Amino acid sequence: MDAIRIYGGNCLDGQTTIQGSKNASLPILAATLLIDGTCEIENCPDISDVYHMQRLLESLGCKVEREGTLVRVNTQGFSECDMPSDSVCVMRSSVMLVGALLARTGKICMEYPGGCVIGARPIDLHLRSLRQMGVTITESEDGFCAETTRLRGAVLRLPFVSVGATENLILAAVLAEGETVIESAAREPEIQALCDFLRCAGAKIEGAGTERLVIHGVERLNPTGYRVPADRIVAGTYLSACMCAGGHVFLKDAPVSHMESVLDYAVRMGAAISYEADGILVAGREHESACDTVVTGCYPEFPTDMQSLFMVVMALSGQAGRIEETVFENRFRIVPELCRMGADITVQGNVAHIGRSAGFHGAIVQAKELRGGAALVIAALAADGTSIVTNRHYIDRGYEDIVLNLRALGAKAELA
Ligand code: EPZ
Repeated sequence: MDAIRIYGGNCLDGQTTIQGSKNASLPILAATLLIDGTCEIENCPDISDVYHMQRLLESLGCKVEREGTLVRVNTQGFSECDMPSDSVCVMRSSVMLVGALLARTGKICMEYPGGCVIGARPIDLHLRSLRQMGVTITESEDGFCAETTRLRGAVLRLPFVSVGATENLILAAVLAEGETVIESAAREPEIQALCDFLRCAGAKIEGAGTERLVIHGVERLNPTGYRVPADRIVAGTYLSACMCAGGHVFLKDAPVSHMESVLDYAVRMGAAISYEADGILVAGREHESACDTVVTGCYPEFPTDMQSLFMVVMALSGQAGRIEETVFENRFRIVPELCRMGADITVQGNVAHIGRSAGFHGAIVQAKELRGGAALVIAALAADGTSIVTNRHYIDRGYEDIVLNLRALGAKAELA
């Protein structure tokens, strides 16, 4: 089956090493298309979303080799051709290839990347800003064609923060003619990593990590190597697992500087964190929670990708609370599944109200997307009895070996 079976009730103890960041790896792999030659990307997680991005690059004639977590991309065999729609549609991040392909070839046609259960996830900001950079875009019902003779710099004022649009526009701007300014740029660590990689290759980018990026187009970029930072959401996931199941877990390589808001909320919710040179030691339940409200927002606010995970932590805290989701319009899809495990959660608009719960009992529950699926797994760790989380493939999109890692920490979990 495409599932995970968990026998709840064991606390977690030991050490787990945090994988490389999915959301930094994907735009950096797309960015290799801007470079004629071979780039070596280290610490690339071996997960299905990265696999699909590798396939897309291969479908464009690139040679892609993986050695453990090193991915080597040689773009010298690049040839325009249609990208496999199964990889385009199954993974939204394929939209990140638009900026890179326009910079390399001046043309790309593709189907609209899939939305998903957390929201419609349109790409109107991407397309509108690309038009400002001299791109002609014709849209049809299920896709679009974008074409340009030369990308030209522009002042791009995004009406609200979008991680993907910021990444796409950076990729379009680094080889464009003239200067591009991106105002209301996203500030996520994954954007900073992308800018770091591009600067290693010779790009001229100022303001990475701030809301105003200034990019001076250059003639060419050069092959380079880069090490992807650890995944702050995966680190937050194992932190949440320890807070739910109890115990002591050392999160090796956790990117602490990218996790300030998450760690602040975790301590307020009862965890104790001690900082070591190469990671953090988490004691999951050291004191009563003193936090009854979580609000998601753009970085450096509390990340929307951690929202489902902290919903489980709050539901198990024995106290009432509320979560306000400000980024996606439909990101409470795990609520019915958690209620079947014994949670008391009601949703009103973009606010989830969490009632006191006497604890969870095992159940068969269904993952509907990546982070909600991970949240159901950590709920099962704390549940009384056996749970089965179905649709494991959603979880495999973003987590390397989650069952193996949890078993190594003492959880009773197995593939089902
Ligand atoms: C990235 O998605 C991440 N994915 C998401 O992580 C993350 O939740 C999200 O940023 C927010 O931090 C990757 O990096 C691969 P957005 P992205 O553009 O770029 C709306 C995970 O679990 N919007 O910042 O798609 C959009 O609908 C995933 O790893 C438009 O309306 O997010 C959303 O409501 C889930 N028009 C809001 O903006 C546009 O043109 C933020 O989306 C673009 C976005």
